[in-house]
Amino acid sequence: MNLRDRAEQVSRNAYAPYSKFHVGAALKTPDGTVFTGCNVENVAYPEGTCAEAGAIAAMCAAGQREIVEMAVIADSPDPVPPCGGCRQKIAEFAAPDMRVTLYNLQGDAVSMTVAELLPGAFSQDHMDGA
Ligand code: THU
Repeated sequence: MNLRDRAEQVSRNAYAPYSKFHVGAALKTPDGTVFTGCNVENVAYPEGTCAEAGAIAAMCAAGQREIVEMAVIADSPDPVPPCGGCRQKIAEFAAPDMRVTLYNLQGDAVSMTVAELLPGAFSQDHMDGA
C-alpha cells in the first residue's frame, strides 16, 4: 500500500469527537519502514495532538530519526496543510528538500518541500554562540 493509502487508512482511527476532522499521516524512513499517525483530541482542547506528531513519535519510538517521504490526508476542500507546529516537527527529522504530499479525499494532491512548508526555519545554527 502506498503512503497516501496508508495515511487514509490510519485517518479512520483518528479520535476527533470535537472537531470531527479526521487526519492521517504516513512517513517513510531510509530503510523503507512506514510509520503512521492520526490526530488524537482531548476535552482539554490544547492537549490534542496532530496526525503528523503521532507518526513522528512512532518513528522515534522505533529508534528511527529520518523522514524521506511523507503524506498527510484529511477530508478537506483542499489538500490539508500541516499546522505550523507540525511543520517545525517535520523539519526536525527531514532534509529541506524532502517532499510532503498533502491530500484530500476528492483526489487533489499538492507536493511541497520542507523548505517550502517552513521557510526561514529555526535550526541549531541559530543557537551558535549560545
Ligand atoms: N490536525 C492535524 O492532525 N494535522 C494538521 O496538520 C492540521 C490539524 C488536527 C488537529 C485537530 O485534531 C483537528 O485536525 C482540527 O484542527
